[in-house]
Amino acid sequence: MVPKSSASMLFEPLTIRGFTAPNRVMVSPMQQYSSDGDGTANDFHLVQLGRFALGGAGMVIAEATAIEPAGRMSHTDLGIWSDDHIAPLTRIAAFIEAQGAIPGIQLVHAGRKGSMQAPWDGMGPLTDADAARGEAPWPTIGPSALSPGGGWPVPHEMSEAEIAANIALWADAACRAAAAGFRIIDLHGAHGYLLHAFLSPLSNRRTDRYGGSLVNRMRYPLEVVRAIRAAIPQGCALFYRLSVLDGIDGGWTVEDSVAFCTELVAEGVDVIDCSSGGAISDRSSNTRVRRGFAFHAPYSRAIKQDVSGALVATVGLIVEPEQAEAVLQAGDADIIAIGREMLSDPNWTHRARSALLGESYDAWPREAGWWLDKRVGALRQLRDGGETPMTRYQRGSH
Ligand SMILES: Cc1cc2nc3c(=O)[nH]c(=O)nc-3n(C[C@H](O)[C@H](O)[C@H](O)COP(=O)(O)O)c2cc1C
Repeated sequence: MVPKSSASMLFEPLTIRGFTAPNRVMVSPMQQYSSDGDGTANDFHLVQLGRFALGGAGMVIAEATAIEPAGRMSHTDLGIWSDDHIAPLTRIAAFIEAQGAIPGIQLVHAGRKGSMQAPWDGMGPLTDADAARGEAPWPTIGPSALSPGGGWPVPHEMSEAEIAANIALWADAACRAAAAGFRIIDLHGAHGYLLHAFLSPLSNRRTDRYGGSLVNRMRYPLEVVRAIRAAIPQGCALFYRLSVLDGIDGGWTVEDSVAFCTELVAEGVDVIDCSSGGAISDRSSNTRVRRGFAFHAPYSRAIKQDVSGALVATVGLIVEPEQAEAVLQAGDADIIAIGREMLSDPNWTHRARSALLGESYDAWPREAGWWLDKRVGALRQLRDGGETPMTRYQRGSH
């Protein structure tokens, strides 16, 4: 095959700590709301994540996985608060790695945005009606006793002792993730969940050393990072998914993010994964950054330019190979995270390789690639002969 181009940044390997990802494509963490109810991963998660690895992605990050039961968003989120969770996750990490991809997992505490219905049950706060069908609401926690939005419960304001105990849960969860074989631990510090809730002045109104000034609001997430970095093996990479801005007056800003990320890098975070928004749950107010194609690229670019030592990922409506390549070529990011487009086409990475480097099935699993490679010539012969898949039916000759 004649390559379209001799080089593509998207398909340049990327070395981070103890591993080298074969390309810059990362499957963005996506909750599936499909655990067995006690946070345990099952065959659905194996197949769902496994097909992204078979599809050629360089890094596959498992969904937001709760560090304690109250840190889930919904009843059917994945969890990693018990050693019993490790074995099924080990199977998933091992499968991903066996396909040549780097396995990662996102850790989360939902904080005041927990106790939520699954999307197909309404995605609102859990109610008595949900309790009647076995999904009771639970008390939530946060930096301050402020509801995230209309109808959502008011969280319990965490004491300093509760903050210290919570930090230990993060470190324990990270150790379990490393024990399960995940090479990337991605902290969910975005979308209004507990880490983000401490950063944003919209959710943090504390007057102690965990609230008020920027330095104080950064204290809890930085303590979490420090505890995790001290607990996990050196070869394990730490990614931090950040809402770079709240997009609401009086909220967290890009300038705040630059200051925070500088501290994150000093604490041993390897990649800043740039997202935005989610500080409050009220969708009727103007809380959203405009969602155009590659809508976080300006923010990942700002972090890349202003924070030295950070590798940067960007996410959000990156759907075409040429677009992903252009984001990297422009210096807007080092890693391309893709969510929904992967749900649409788990083989997106293989398709991108063909689009950017010329048609080849070399990187596909041989169980598919061997056959598809042979088929190229046969298809070309038919098309060169003037035949299309519809010819027979257009002639009406069947
Ligand atoms: C089904 C679904 C579940 C998601 N779950 C998570 C999650 O667990 N953690 C997270 O950080 N983002 C989550 N997101 C956000 C995605 O990771 C991604 O940032 C977002 O969908 C924008 O990227 P996209 O346009 O490529 O889909 C989820 C998105 C979807 C569609």
